[in-house]
Amino acid sequence: MIQPVAWITSLIFMSFVVIAFGLVALKSKGKRDYGPIKKKWYKARTFYGSLLVILMLAVTIYTLRDLPYNQPAYGEGNEPTVVDVEAYQFGWNISQTEFSVGEPIEFEVTSADVTHGFGIYDEDMNILTQTQAMPDYTNTVYITFDEPGTYEILCMEYCGLAHHLMIEEITVK
Ligand code: CUA
Repeated sequence: MIQPVAWITSLIFMSFVVIAFGLVALKSKGKRDYGPIKKKWYKARTFYGSLLVILMLAVTIYTLRDLPYNQPAYGEGNEPTVVDVEAYQFGWNISQTEFSVGEPIEFEVTSADVTHGFGIYDEDMNILTQTQAMPDYTNTVYITFDEPGTYEILCMEYCGLAHHLMIEEITVK
C-alpha cells in the first residue's frame, strides 16, 4: 500500500520539478530589468524560507513527542513474555516460538558471532518489526500479535554465505 503511494507522490513532485525547469527554460529567452525582480524574489525567499523553518520546526516537535519510540504500554498485571533470541551463523536460538493473540512479548535479541538482523514478517511477507542482533549487546523488540498465524523471522543483514537460510517460524494462536 505504501509503495504505490510513495511512487505516485514521487511522480507528482518530479513533474513539478520538470515543469519548473521547463518554465525557466521558456522564460530565459526574454530580457527584463533585473532590479525589481531581485527585490521581489529576495522578499519571497525570506517569506518561504521562514515559512519552511516554522513548518519543519512544527513537524519536528510533533514527531519527536513520541520519543523514545518502540516503548510498550502494558496494563496493570499484564506482564510481558520475555523471549531470549540469539542469532548465529546461520540460525536462531529462540527460547519460545508459540504465543497467543494479545500477549505482550519482549524479544531480547543478541548475537553469538557477527551482526545479524532480526525481522518479524507476517504471512504476506510484510515486515512487522525489526532490530539488529549484535554481539555483546541486547536489543529489545516489543510486539503484541493481533492475529493468529505463522510468522517468520528472517535475518535482515548479510552475514555470510548462508545468510538466506536464517529463517525461523513462530506460531501465534
Ligand atoms: Cu544472519 Cu544474515
